[in-house]
Amino acid sequence: MIGSKIIHLESVDSTNNYVANLIKGNSLVNGTVILTDEQIEGRGQRGSVWSSLSGVNLLMSVYFEPANLSVEHQFYLSKFVAITLMDYLKSKGLNADIKWPNDIYVKGKKIAGVLIENQLSGTNIKSAIIGVGLNVNQIDFGDINATSLKLELSEFNSIDEVLFGLIQNFNKNVGILEDFELIDSIYHSNLLGLNTKRLFVINGKQVCGIIKSVSQEGKLNVLIKENLNSFDLKEIKFVF
Ligand code: BTN
Repeated sequence: MIGSKIIHLESVDSTNNYVANLIKGNSLVNGTVILTDEQIEGRGQRGSVWSSLSGVNLLMSVYFEPANLSVEHQFYLSKFVAITLMDYLKSKGLNADIKWPNDIYVKGKKIAGVLIENQLSGTNIKSAIIGVGLNVNQIDFGDINATSLKLELSEFNSIDEVLFGLIQNFNKNVGILEDFELIDSIYHSNLLGLNTKRLFVINGKQVCGIIKSVSQEGKLNVLIKENLNSFDLKEIKFVF
């Protein structure tokens, strides 16, 4: 069960690194959650930095051993995590969208990001480190296009309550990992920009396109001038 063990740290380089080190020592129970008040070297997608003020946001990683997930289906884990976060935020009354690949946005602003690092065994995912950064009580993001629960709900939120709510949602949703069609249907029906014209940056140029789907491999399929193009994370940027 996710959250059967919770380790709360005051400060760490990155909760994902912390889990990776415990994996090396073979000392982890499936579903262990690492929570920290502060990260010194928080990591984001594409080698970016995840910075957060100390003590105000949810910074956590889950050590998760999927029951039977092949490498070719690894993006379903990403979709499952995005669905879980979106579902949790909707339960708090927020109009949350999934922004490909697995960010969560509210009213065009990022509220949560996910960094998943998989450990493989042959053609299967042996285990995954699911890192989640969710903005809870931070109210100033400088020039970053971000928001938080506090900004959206106009109230202080206990990080522990958010953690337990999210863990509950993980456990509630984990069964959908056995039903890829269901995952695809929930993921696409909450996907930001699906079937609507919007601007992207591709090769440094602004381009108008329409998101049609996200493939099994996690590529973004965008219709541009009547041609369907598939993009990897580094190849396309959204314009907000
Ligand atoms: C992104 O949107 O770029 C992903 C951000 C993921 C941040 C979380 S915070 C907890 C965990 N530890 C890390 O170093 N990163 C993830």
